[in-house]
Amino acid sequence: MSDKISKEVLTEWLEIVRPFAHDGHVADYIPALAKKHPEDLAVAIHYHDGTTVSEGRDEDCFTLQSISKVIALALALMDNGEDYVFERVGMEPSGDPFHSIYRLEQHNPSKPLNPMINAGALAVTNMIHGVTPDEKVGRLLSFIHEMTDDHSIRHSEEVASSEFETAFLNRALLYYMKQHQVVDGSVEETLDAYTKQCAIEVNVKQLARIGALFANEGRDLDSNRQIISKHFARICKTFMVTCGMYDASGAFAIKVGIPAKSGVSGAVVGSLNKFGGIAVYGPALDEKGNSVVGLKLLEMMSNRYDLSIF
Ligand code: DON
Repeated sequence: MSDKISKEVLTEWLEIVRPFAHDGHVADYIPALAKKHPEDLAVAIHYHDGTTVSEGRDEDCFTLQSISKVIALALALMDNGEDYVFERVGMEPSGDPFHSIYRLEQHNPSKPLNPMINAGALAVTNMIHGVTPDEKVGRLLSFIHEMTDDHSIRHSEEVASSEFETAFLNRALLYYMKQHQVVDGSVEETLDAYTKQCAIEVNVKQLARIGALFANEGRDLDSNRQIISKHFARICKTFMVTCGMYDASGAFAIKVGIPAKSGVSGAVVGSLNKFGGIAVYGPALDEKGNSVVGLKLLEMMSNRYDLSIF
């Protein structure tokens, strides 16, 4: 394991990156997210040996948004097996914005390119076992409770309904995929489950622990229980490398080199074998939908502590 990063260093670095919070914009396409303050920053590391360090607004909750896609993928793999999942969703990066519909028409028979873009993530949510949207989300929450050992984690109804009411593009993706038999059942119900999944709220300490679990090959660091199989944890981390930061994944791999997943709430989770999980939060986003401060902080950490996997 590389050297541990101290609380003092994290305090100093949060101040260094704070001015960058004004280089981006808080997501406003989901009305409930637009209320967030760009300078509300936080960072946490859950080390491989179980120790933790955090700084900034580390008790404040934010929604997982697209970070939920990795967790939902792990559950869908456990529910259905690898063959079933990858018959319906591909494994290739898209190089397009996360909400793009364009590639769905190019693949015949239609198939979303990967589970990290919205089309693929919606198809993954559709595959999670559960008769009703609430049953699917309940199972996903139980899975997150197991991963974090925290049963208080819930979704924000305000953020979920705010997104549900305005998610016209995600409805379009679902209708297109229903027409082509990629998804089944009710579009509205799948969208309901997806928006609730995206609205699950955590703080950076809980998120870093999730990152650490993936880093530890799916095994909980406290109890040593295998919560996700090593193989499925590896699949999830590989998608983090190839598609976790959307159409910025290539530059991120070069500059930072940490398997990571971002969400439009401004959170990023990193997962480094034999190091642990890193979570950063800063709600201002760049034009690709990634946290400006999150990218800056991860780049500083990676360079200073030689964390790149490459
Ligand atoms: O599908 C959406 O629009 C969101 N709920 C999640 C998107 C997201 O977080 C993209 N991330 N950078």
